[in-house]
Amino acid sequence: MNFKIAVLPGDGIGPEIVEQAIKVTDAVCEKKGHSVVYTHALTGATAIFATGDPYPPETHQICMESDAVLFGAIGDPRFDNDPKAKVRPEKGLLAMRKQLGLYANIRPVSTFASLLHKSPLKQELVEGVDFVTIRELTGGIYFGQPQGRTEDGNTAFDSSVYHRYEIERIAKLAFEFAMNRRKKLTMVDKANVLATSRLWRETVQDMAPQYPEVELEYMFVDNAAMQIIQWPKRFDVIVTENMFGDILTDEASVITGSLGLLPSASIGLHTSVFEPIHGSYPQAAGKNIANPVATILSAALMFEYAFKLNDEAAMIRKAVDASLVEGIVTEDIDKSNPSSTSAVGDWLAAYIKNNF
Ligand code: IPM
Ligand code: MG
Repeated sequence: MNFKIAVLPGDGIGPEIVEQAIKVTDAVCEKKGHSVVYTHALTGATAIFATGDPYPPETHQICMESDAVLFGAIGDPRFDNDPKAKVRPEKGLLAMRKQLGLYANIRPVSTFASLLHKSPLKQELVEGVDFVTIRELTGGIYFGQPQGRTEDGNTAFDSSVYHRYEIERIAKLAFEFAMNRRKKLTMVDKANVLATSRLWRETVQDMAPQYPEVELEYMFVDNAAMQIIQWPKRFDVIVTENMFGDILTDEASVITGSLGLLPSASIGLHTSVFEPIHGSYPQAAGKNIANPVATILSAALMFEYAFKLNDEAAMIRKAVDASLVEGIVTEDIDKSNPSSTSAVGDWLAAYIKNNF
């Protein structure tokens, strides 16, 4: 097959980790006889400094014309510490999600047998954890209007807004995921307080009879935050709104032992985006120490979801498993004998070339 991949490295460690994902993607394509064309484009703080816009129209055009987008990370401390900044790098990410219609963010969490001891939770709690969070990505408080400040500057407001169609399309995807997995769906909300959550509950309740095999439960978000840590194995598919999904998936990532391991896929109306769930880690930028595995596993999701090539995805996952067993890992996982970012990428690409 021939693929066109838009590459948006973004800020901080983005360029270094994306470079490793490209190495691994190239190794897979070489093995399997696919040809791939990469087009790099600007986003985030990097794009603000170059063009004034964190998601310039040229970048959007390149994304729209590609089969998949490989994304690094966004964020820069120069903006984090300046609450008065007129444009923010994160706006670029939100604009991309909105303009590409990426209403579903899929974040799988599963533990790696060789890293169980790295989890802050007891081994017996995390062994065999395997769930996926389907986070709504283009609605809720991230986008709701009005948002802003009163003229005197002393009052600020955000609005959480959901329409029934937005809930229906993400819930449909979540039910389908559950059908293809262990048939258990947990809907997380705050229906005891929020009107949007009550619309979520009503909509999901109305849809449930279409999926009689799926065991559906409702859980308040505060309770879910507790249960993810206390009993993570009980979850199969979690579906939730934008902000709850943001928070719960960072929480869930520590189960695996490092935030640097978790990939994600954002899918919806136009080109899908594949990106690690972690941020731009500016302290590590340019040092060749950041963990590239979350981005490399995002490339595996790209083969699976965007190209429907499960064997290729499995090759990447097997290579990553092997690297963890061999201890070819960055310093977040092994402080005493770390490999560099590029060494991990090289090792994985070589493994794929030599083993399949
Ligand atoms: C994520 C990130 C983003 C979000 C930020 C960078 C805007 O935390 O993808 O989870 O909140 O969605
Ligand atoms: Mg987040």
